[in-house]
Amino acid sequence: MQATRSTGSCSEAIGADSIQACHTTENFQPAVYVKQYYEYLGDENLAILKFLWRQFQRCPEDADMLDFGCGPTIYQFIAAAPTVRTIHVADSLVTNFEAIQDWMAGKPDVFSWREYIRETLVLEDPAAVSSADIRKREQLIKQKIARFLHCNLGGYPPIDGVAKASYDVLMANYCLEFLPAHIDFEAGMSEILSLLRPGGRFIFQFLRRTPDYPVGDHRFLCRQIDEDDFLRILPKCGFLSPTIEYEIVEAEAGLQRPYESFVMMAASKA
Ligand SMILES: C[S@@+](CC[C@H](N)C(=O)[O-])C[C@H]1O[C@@H](n2cnc3c(N)ncnc32)[C@H](O)[C@@H]1O
Repeated sequence: MQATRSTGSCSEAIGADSIQACHTTENFQPAVYVKQYYEYLGDENLAILKFLWRQFQRCPEDADMLDFGCGPTIYQFIAAAPTVRTIHVADSLVTNFEAIQDWMAGKPDVFSWREYIRETLVLEDPAAVSSADIRKREQLIKQKIARFLHCNLGGYPPIDGVAKASYDVLMANYCLEFLPAHIDFEAGMSEILSLLRPGGRFIFQFLRRTPDYPVGDHRFLCRQIDEDDFLRILPKCGFLSPTIEYEIVEAEAGLQRPYESFVMMAASKA
């Protein structure tokens, strides 16, 4: 067993393996994260794009959408942008907002997401997709991102100044598993889900039964959750059981992912 010493919210491993276990995300490095998990657009990320495309085909027009725990990524807005009226993004880290804002400003050296846009456009219409089509979708995403909000997963309320039932679409991708360990999972989820209006759609993804999520040389500790947790919690939080759908995606062979699988799930509120 390896010795550890505490450095703030991380315990630093002493020895050959210098990866650090963290209880909070203050050491989360946006650019490292994007490179590690999104630089390669393989089967896993294609499955995610396809799932989001299918979800937004059925999304109500002019929806107000919140992405809770947005991170530094853009892929989750590509299929949403033509349908939703506004996108609010929320995270605990300003550095993630800066990554999105750098992309919006077209700064050099930021990840372009163009390959992700191209793949989504091909799903929407398999006819040839041009560079102009991709630029048009980029512009649309930029127009729809209206607010950057500080959020606190496990906080009451999770976003200061945002009332319950404010959104028609609530998205949360690879964030809910970071609910702090001392908070009851159902109570924490219930608080986040209260942000959704009646009739609204909850679209989310999470690592399946995974103890931690490495990003660069830090490991972020996770709740080990699976689809059964949500199949139990969602009806109690006012979601209609027949509207719940989910897919389990196995980690792509050869990528040495730190998880065996992840879950893509969605449900509608009564
Ligand atoms: C693994 S990243 C996921 C980013 C993005 N949603 C995606 O699909 O790749 C997890 C995100 O959750 C955020 N997060 C983790 N714990 C949080 C907390 N307690 N409150 C708010 N956001 C948190 C992190 O800042 C980070 O942006």
